[in-house]
Amino acid sequence: MTSYERISVTPLTPAVGAELGGVDIAAGVDDETLRGIHAALMAHGVVFFRDQDITPVQQRDFAARFGRLRTAKRSAFLVEDGVPEMHVLINDRERPPNVNHYHSDGIFRAEPEFASILRAVEVPEAGGDTIFVGMGAAYDALSDDMKAYLADKEAMHDFMKLHGSPKKFRSWEGDNWKRMEASRVANPPVAHQVVKVHPVTGRKSLYISESFTASILGVGEDESRGLLDMLNRHCARPEFQCRFHWRPHSVALWDNRSTSHYACADYWPERRLMNRVTIETDALGAASAEAAE
Ligand code: OGA
Ligand code: MN
Repeated sequence: MTSYERISVTPLTPAVGAELGGVDIAAGVDDETLRGIHAALMAHGVVFFRDQDITPVQQRDFAARFGRLRTAKRSAFLVEDGVPEMHVLINDRERPPNVNHYHSDGIFRAEPEFASILRAVEVPEAGGDTIFVGMGAAYDALSDDMKAYLADKEAMHDFMKLHGSPKKFRSWEGDNWKRMEASRVANPPVAHQVVKVHPVTGRKSLYISESFTASILGVGEDESRGLLDMLNRHCARPEFQCRFHWRPHSVALWDNRSTSHYACADYWPERRLMNRVTIETDALGAASAEAAE
């Protein structure tokens, strides 16, 4: 039973997402509050904070409280000047939105990242929402037969399934080609279990992404395609989702091990600018899992 002494936790849906109150990142977050945020993240998969008027450095330093940060590479996204851990996602008339695909950040890596923290800097007048999927709820709703069938299956995930597709051609233009090529070489196809057991909560969830998951290993081509089509359609059901409407200074922190997300590309040609930091390791989760042993 989780009790939240320092923060308020308001679930958005039973499946995924909660809005947190009582957190002021700019003013500083004490250790007890940090543990509360982490507990809410484990329980809800993604947590949202409103009205956090913070600088890129404050966002980076807040993220670093949760674990080791990844240095941001400039390839598909830009990097914030002076904050090497921060990606800048910018979309406008010349750069139409193109993150409208269900995915879990880093699923194409041998060691996917724990969490991502995204802050809205500029938002369109309407639209540009992000949808989150509770992959635990999606798993729970499968039949016992399907759960048994998937229990030992692995899937292959491929960086190029998305980044070689027409919607990402823009990333390969001009001298960005060599950066994308370096990312491609650094991320060869990799296999992960289709059913992921969460290392902290022990909860099972589906671990697939429409944009990166290329095949189910050990079955025929048609069976693999049919299964992935079915599972992707299943995960797109609103019952497993929440939808977050951004305002300037809204922040989302999500667990890539138990959720997927989809950025609605409905606001072109308006401008949207977001700052993202990637947290590779779950320091608080590792400590709590150890304490429980
Ligand atoms: C991301 C991402 C979603 C959004 O930052 O990983 O997918 O709504 N962004 O911009
Ligand atoms: Mn993402």
